[in-house]
Amino acid sequence: MEKERLFSLLSERRQEHLLQYFDGLTVEEKADFARQIRLIDWKMLDFHSECPNGEIAPILPPPKGDFRALGVEQIKNGKVAAVLLAGGQGTRLGSDAPKGTYDIGVTKPLYIFECLFKNLISVNEECRAQVPLLIMTSEKTDEATRAFLKEHAYFGYPADMIRFFVQDTAPCVDEDGKIMLESKGKIATAPNGNGGWFSSLLRTEIPAWLNSLGVEWLNVFAVDNVLQKIADPAFVGATVASGKNCGAKVVKKANPFEKVGVLCLRGGKPDVVEYYEMDENVAQSTDGKGELLYPYGVILNYLFRVEKLQEVAQEKIPVHVVKKKIPYLSQDGTTVCPQTENGYKFETLIVDMVRLMDDCLPFVVEREKEFAPIKNAEGVDSVQSARLLLQKNGVKL
Ligand code: UTP
Repeated sequence: MEKERLFSLLSERRQEHLLQYFDGLTVEEKADFARQIRLIDWKMLDFHSECPNGEIAPILPPPKGDFRALGVEQIKNGKVAAVLLAGGQGTRLGSDAPKGTYDIGVTKPLYIFECLFKNLISVNEECRAQVPLLIMTSEKTDEATRAFLKEHAYFGYPADMIRFFVQDTAPCVDEDGKIMLESKGKIATAPNGNGGWFSSLLRTEIPAWLNSLGVEWLNVFAVDNVLQKIADPAFVGATVASGKNCGAKVVKKANPFEKVGVLCLRGGKPDVVEYYEMDENVAQSTDGKGELLYPYGVILNYLFRVEKLQEVAQEKIPVHVVKKKIPYLSQDGTTVCPQTENGYKFETLIVDMVRLMDDCLPFVVEREKEFAPIKNAEGVDSVQSARLLLQKNGVKL
């Protein structure tokens, strides 16, 4: 019976090949396989998803002023929670373990998670608060992340203020758009991108908990920038004072063609335009004083007003298709890890959520003090470059 139902569901989408090993599965495996199919978010597989368009224009610079005291007040009153995005696979770093568990110390261990937790602890101390910390993992990073943090006693963070949630996945497809199998009873999936954080969060009990605490703002940040300030009172204060629904921490671009996403307006809405989307002349255009008109590079640290997030929760954001190496089931029934890209994964990106906020405050931070991303094993944005920046900021390695 179950097989017939699955067949009709899958054949509507020309994916019935997924049932080719179904008869040979055990009862439990069949039930689990049916569950995987029911969980597929078919909207994600839409190759023709629309990307925003419209004329690009500079976004207004932030007003001058020090809003730290206002931010401290907000945090002290429990208005801000932090959301750590730790669902990525960190493939560029080349480690199988979750990125946050990576040890970047020299004379003693210093884990990426430790840097972030310590940064947030210092805010708790300054504001005499306990900022709720939500950690988004993915199927692939969840177990190892929880075990690692427990073993390290959450680096001193109050455990009752931490909540984990697992981000949703999307199936991977081959070059013909057919969903791939990783093994006979398992569909090949990948995390659905960092834009999936809010819809994944909404499926949990966490929003009710945040509501009971009176949280109004979520500060969402990446796992890999070991220098960033989280729930930064100055940033919180400036965004709240601006009356906008969103704030984005930005650094001034090192040069007009730096490979970063740029916060600007597109079709009158705040948006992040990728460096490769921006025309050369636009990228280097300046005002009367010789300042770049598009100076703001985003560093994946955003403050979102919860009320606005809820209002736009059902709106669609573009789905990006990325070619990847995807483990698959070979003809002889074994799982193969390919050496070259063999299929596509689908993801939504947090940068595409900025548009939905209607307005956004650029909050400029000093690159040398707040931007030390660890993306690669060596070279640019690597463990080595992050270590140098940490040392410059007085962190003992
Ligand atoms: P990246 O864009 O650097 O992706 O993520 P990644 O998967 O970690 O690394 P590569 O490209 O495979 O080397 C930026 C942030 O978004 C999170 C990451 O954990 C990181 O904090 N992220 C990314 C998620 O939480 N989920 C995802 O599906 C993708």
